[in-house]
Amino acid sequence: MAVSEPSVGGNNAITPTVYLDGEFMPPTKATISPLDRGFIFGDGIYEVVPVFNGRPFRLVHHLRRLRHSLAAVGIDSPIGDTDWHRILQRLVDDNGAGDQYLYLQITRGIAPRDHVFPVDTKPTVFAYAQPTVYAEPTATVEGVSTITTEDIRWQRCDIKSTSLLAAVMLRQQAAEKGSVETLLVRNGLITEGAASNVFMVVASNLITPPTGAYILAGITRELILELAKRHNIPATERDIEEKELAAASEIWIASSTQEIKPVTTVDGSPVGAGTPGPVFTRLLALYQEYKRAFCEGRVD
Ligand SMILES: Cc1ncc(COP(=O)(O)O)c(C=O)c1O
Repeated sequence: MAVSEPSVGGNNAITPTVYLDGEFMPPTKATISPLDRGFIFGDGIYEVVPVFNGRPFRLVHHLRRLRHSLAAVGIDSPIGDTDWHRILQRLVDDNGAGDQYLYLQITRGIAPRDHVFPVDTKPTVFAYAQPTVYAEPTATVEGVSTITTEDIRWQRCDIKSTSLLAAVMLRQQAAEKGSVETLLVRNGLITEGAASNVFMVVASNLITPPTGAYILAGITRELILELAKRHNIPATERDIEEKELAAASEIWIASSTQEIKPVTTVDGSPVGAGTPGPVFTRLLALYQEYKRAFCEGRVD
């Protein structure tokens, strides 16, 4: 399988069908109340699931994280895993199968504005799929530039909350400097990217910070660790001090939308030789092979 690179944000295609509160409809027919707490407070959670060859990738893992987020914020989802499988597959099929991204969001629902959780409010459930547009794999082949900055987010980064203002501001800082991602620093430690997990390689060892209150348990991160373990690539989950980045031979970012990307500069300084390193190349090949096996139905 050739390396292909999803063009993030470059896809303006309009999906034919969205799912809203029990019904499938064209997006033009979907209306959400301005009193929805998702709009008023950002009181909701979400997931983004890649779809390869018409099949949601690592869906069981995404639904597990969804349950974690819902439980953490006390939203009772009206939809269980079996229904999610059915709903999401219908959206994918309506959208022409192939490679896509699924977005799904559950908010606490519509209620008069009051911070306290409303009683007996029905959560709002929204989901849609959009086709992936692939670009020339420039970033995967040549690497991406990043900046570092203070992690200004909250202390529950394990929750995939729709309240993304801090992440939006942090990612914007990178964009304004012509960089792809902002690596976040909290108390001298690298947590993650504004919308990705971070890995570094030191002496051929793959290192990523442990998940917890300051780091989202990324599904791509989990797969990378799984593949590393299965193929005897030494990998460790431990804190990364910001100052260690200068000595890393490789740095990567990983997410469902970006897949795995080599970082070749941090704050303008080259990482290692300034080109994607050998551990990245090996892991990317394993990831592509895993994806191919998934597309061919050899793995779930
Ligand atoms: C803050 C943050 N960390 C990590 C990730 C990577 O998670 P995943 O691999 O599940 O997409 C994301 C994805 O959006 C994210 O927003």
